Amino acid sequence: MEATELRRIGIMTGGGDCPGLNAAIRAVVRKAEGVLGIEVLGFRDGWRGIVEADVVPLTVDSVRGILPRGGTILGSSPVNPFREGGVERVRGILHDLGAEALIAIGGEGTLGAAAQLASEGVPVVGIPKTIDNDLSGTDYCIGFQTAVQIATDAIDRLHTTAESHDRVMLLEVMGRSAGWIALYAGLAGGADMILIPERPFDLEDVGTHLRRRHLRGHRFSIVVVAEGARPAPGTLELPEYPSDPRGFPRYGGIAQLIGTEIERLTGFETRVTTLGHLQRGGTPVAEDRILATRFGIAAVDLTLDGAWGRMAGIRGGKIVDVALADAAKVRPVPEDLYRVAEVFFNT
Ligand code: F6P
Repeated sequence: MEATELRRIGIMTGGGDCPGLNAAIRAVVRKAEGVLGIEVLGFRDGWRGIVEADVVPLTVDSVRGILPRGGTILGSSPVNPFREGGVERVRGILHDLGAEALIAIGGEGTLGAAAQLASEGVPVVGIPKTIDNDLSGTDYCIGFQTAVQIATDAIDRLHTTAESHDRVMLLEVMGRSAGWIALYAGLAGGADMILIPERPFDLEDVGTHLRRRHLRGHRFSIVVVAEGARPAPGTLELPEYPSDPRGFPRYGGIAQLIGTEIERLTGFETRVTTLGHLQRGGTPVAEDRILATRFGIAAVDLTLDGAWGRMAGIRGGKIVDVALADAAKVRPVPEDLYRVAEVFFNT
């Protein structure tokens, strides 16, 4: 499709919200409507708005003031388009509304569905968002830097109270399949141990490490635990996690289990904090606003190029585009980054 042919495009946000989504919506509207005169339809509540044709017109005026706002003005929902009419329904609704392209902002689930739609000829491009930062094809996803800042602030606060009371403090952060938030916040906050899904942990080793620290005269410790952290096989029984409406495991609580065991193994008084959705709420940090703005502009450029099935990403500071089908795969924390963190576990 040629640039000049586009008259109207749609945009939606799917999956869990995060800070920076509104900044991306604003950038899309400012470039599409404000610069190019292309109308923008906002689909409400992710795929639900698409399969039910529930739209709101977005204009330069209507998106004023949303840049620093957390959440998404469009809403989100667990609706899966393939269970609600599938590709024919999505194609039909876009056609009926005169939307010649769709910009899908989402994580693994949303972009996976977008990739499948694109493979069946639906004109979709993507923007990566997830505080977990675990999508392939991009160094950063919208929301991650804000979550890291929130978790780092929490570690700083836990540090002072841990020191005062000679306690082991565990902080559970999000990170379903990859430990990016735990690793980044742990590095930034000076954690004494970081447990992430990529590196199954052995509680005996954790206990030994904490005892060694105490013997060296450090009478408190900070341990950051990703919610998806896994014990080494045969070391700790985890409960069966329930599935959320999208079919992903609903994690939460592993730090409490680990904390109880640490106290039993070491005798050190231990406390647990679960940061939960605080990591996803509130205003985005500057890096997320800038990233979201760059992604929004890049996504409009992809629609102008008719680059269906592609996603805007960032690599080495430069905006790139990658296949949606490749992006919607988990990107684990690389070994070399974990080794940097490990230096601080043992000193
Ligand atoms: O994928 C992002 C994420 O924040 C995960 O880290 C977390 O497990 C999940 O969303 C929680 O989602 P919900 O909003 O369903 O509680």
